[in-house]
Amino acid sequence: MMRCLVTGGCGFVGSALVRRLLAESCEVLVVDDLSRGSRENFGADRDLVRVIEQDVTDGLDRVFSSFQPQAVFHLAALHFIPDCDADPARCLRVNVDGTRSVLQAAAGLRSPASLVLASSAAVYAPADGPHREQEDSLGPVDVYGYSKRWTEELAAGFAARTGTGVGIARLFNVFGPGETNAHFIPSLICQMKAGESVRLGNLSTRRDYVFVDDVADALLRLARHCGGDFVPGQAVTVNVGSGRAYSGHDVVEALTRSMTGTEPAAVAPVVDPSRLRPVDRPTLLADPTLAQKLLDWAPRTSLADGLRAAWDRPVGAGVTLT
Ligand SMILES: NC(=O)c1ccc[n+]([C@@H]2O[C@H](COP(=O)([O-])OP(=O)(O)OC[C@H]3O[C@@H](n4cnc5c(N)ncnc54)[C@H](O)[C@@H]3O)[C@@H](O)[C@H]2O)c1
Repeated sequence: MMRCLVTGGCGFVGSALVRRLLAESCEVLVVDDLSRGSRENFGADRDLVRVIEQDVTDGLDRVFSSFQPQAVFHLAALHFIPDCDADPARCLRVNVDGTRSVLQAAAGLRSPASLVLASSAAVYAPADGPHREQEDSLGPVDVYGYSKRWTEELAAGFAARTGTGVGIARLFNVFGPGETNAHFIPSLICQMKAGESVRLGNLSTRRDYVFVDDVADALLRLARHCGGDFVPGQAVTVNVGSGRAYSGHDVVEALTRSMTGTEPAAVAPVVDPSRLRPVDRPTLLADPTLAQKLLDWAPRTSLADGLRAAWDRPVGAGVTLT
C-alpha cells in the first residue's frame, strides 16, 4: 500500500489514475483547484478520495509535509493548447511555476518519494516518423510544448540535486471516457450524438491515440520503477503512446462503423475554420519501445474498443462540448 499524492487528480487522466491507485489499495490525496476537473469524475469512488482544493502554485509544503507521500504524480496543468495560446502567461504560471512549487514541496519530504511528471509529446520537434526519447531532438512549436519542456528540465534538475527517482511520461493523445477538454474525439462524439452536422478542425493530421486507463497503468509502473532500483539522481523519460497513428478521417470512420453501424459516408464532417490551429504538426507518433522494455508496459485497449467506451461517457462531470 503506497501513499500517493496526485496533483490534477480530478481531471481526465488524473481521475483514471486515482481510480487505478485505489484499486491497488493505495491511500490517495488529490490537490486540484477544480478549474477543469471535478470530484464527480471518481464515480463510485468519490467518497474514498480526499481532495484539497488548491492552486498548485500556492505553497504546497504543508500539504506534502503532513501527508508524507511515497509517490507524487504531478498532472495539474493547463493542457488544452488553444487555451494556452489564448493566455500564455497563465500557461507558464500553472505549468512551469506549478511544477517548481511541487518540486520544492517534494524536496522537503522526510524520505524521498518517487515523482512522476505528466509531460507531453509536444516537447518533440516535428517529424514524420515515430519519436524516440533519447535520439530525437526537442523542439516545441507552441507555448504549451515549451512549458512542458521546461517542466522536464526542472524535474531532471530536481532528480540530480536530491537523488529522488523521477519519471517523466511523455503522453501522446490520450482518449477515453470523461474528457475535460475540447479535443478531437470527444467533440466528434458529442456532435454525432447531438445528430447535427459534424464540424471539426484538421482531419488530415495523424495522431497516436492511447487509452486513458492504459496511461494510468503506465504512470503507476513508472512510479514503481523510479521508486525501485534504477540509478538515483537521474530522470527516466518514456513515451506513453501506442505506436500507431490515425488521421481524423480514420477516427471518424472507426467511430461510425463501431457506434452507429452505418457506412462511414453517413457522417460527413465539415472543416470548421475556427477550429483549425495556427500550428499543427502533420504527424505525432510514439515509439513506445522504451516503456515496454523498462516498465513492461504496452497499451491493451484498441482504438475501436476505446472509442466504444468513450461513446458511452465522452465528457467528464460538468463538461459541455460542442
Ligand atoms: N489528455 C492528453 O491527451 C494529454 C496529452 C499529453 C499530456 N497530458 C498531460 O497530462 C496531464 C493531465 O491532463 P488531462 O488531459 O487530464 O487534463 P485536465 O485538464 O483534465 O486535468 C488537469 C487537472 O489539473 C487541474 N488544474 C489545472 N490548473 C490547476 C492549478 N493551477 N492548480 C491545481 N490544479 C489545477 C484541473 O482542474 C484538472 O483537474 C496534464 O499535465 C497534461 O498536460 C495530457
